[in-house]
Amino acid sequence: MNNDVGRALLVDPRGRDGAGMGLDPGCLIVETRGVRKSYRLGSRCVEVLRGVDLVVSRGEFVALRGSSGAGKSTLLHLLAGLDTPDAGAVKVCSVDLASAPPSQAARFRNLKIGVVFQSYHLFPELDALENVCVPARLARHGVEDSLARARRLLERVGLGDRFEHRPRELSGGEQQRVAIARALINEPELILADEPTGNLDSRTGDEIVDLLCTLRAEKGVTLIVATHDSRVASRAPRVIELVDGQVQALTQGTV
Ligand SMILES: Nc1ncnc2c1ncn2[C@@H]1O[C@H](COP(=O)(O)OP(=O)(O)OP(=O)(O)O)[C@@H](O)[C@H]1O
Ligand SMILES: [Mg+2]
Repeated sequence: MNNDVGRALLVDPRGRDGAGMGLDPGCLIVETRGVRKSYRLGSRCVEVLRGVDLVVSRGEFVALRGSSGAGKSTLLHLLAGLDTPDAGAVKVCSVDLASAPPSQAARFRNLKIGVVFQSYHLFPELDALENVCVPARLARHGVEDSLARARRLLERVGLGDRFEHRPRELSGGEQQRVAIARALINEPELILADEPTGNLDSRTGDEIVDLLCTLRAEKGVTLIVATHDSRVASRAPRVIELVDGQVQALTQGTV
């Protein structure tokens, strides 16, 4: 997995070749064909994804399941354009992020995709408010506007009294909620959330899923959520599972 994701969030999206990344008006937001991904560790090769075909329409809520090590985070990183497949194609809004220039891919990700990482990737030297502001500032929103949005979002995830806490001064669940607020600040069209309730009690987890579902209902946001949590999966109209490196459809009743 790409260990440099924190830095990727900081890539300046203002490069000139970031222009012209408009949205495809079609209804597909994610399309992968034959995606393969392996990791090489010394002489060992771990084959994680072995031909992932996945199509997600705008406004869908898809829960991604699979045992630990099945490749859920790997797939989400590929969808976010933070890593590249060994073979196959990944398109988001008809854009192939793997072949786009890095500055263009970063700008696209910054504006269109909200990523909640499994291990948060908050900046340790920034407080909660500043962490949430980062994508908004990169999108060239003004300081006051960014701060106002960040405050609203932190209040929405129940952290109105933690603005000035740095990540090490926050619990795991609080850090997770800061990461969720950060993912939402630029009002993305696609949210890729990796175990977004993994560190939350069931009530707080339900509130986070309620928030995501509200964004979906009100703004047509597309949700792809990797989760081991049956409560989260049960809220998704569509559940898929990674098995042996490929995507299988699961019906709601089998989750
Ligand atoms: N950078 C890396 N180098 C080598 N192997 C890696 C790397 N990143 C991930 N892997 C391996 O790829 C496999 C898939 O990892 P991934 O993190 O995608 O699984 P996951 O489904 O998200 O698991 P979990 O439910 O535990 O989060 C694992 O077996 C992991 O050990
Ligand atoms: Mg994972």
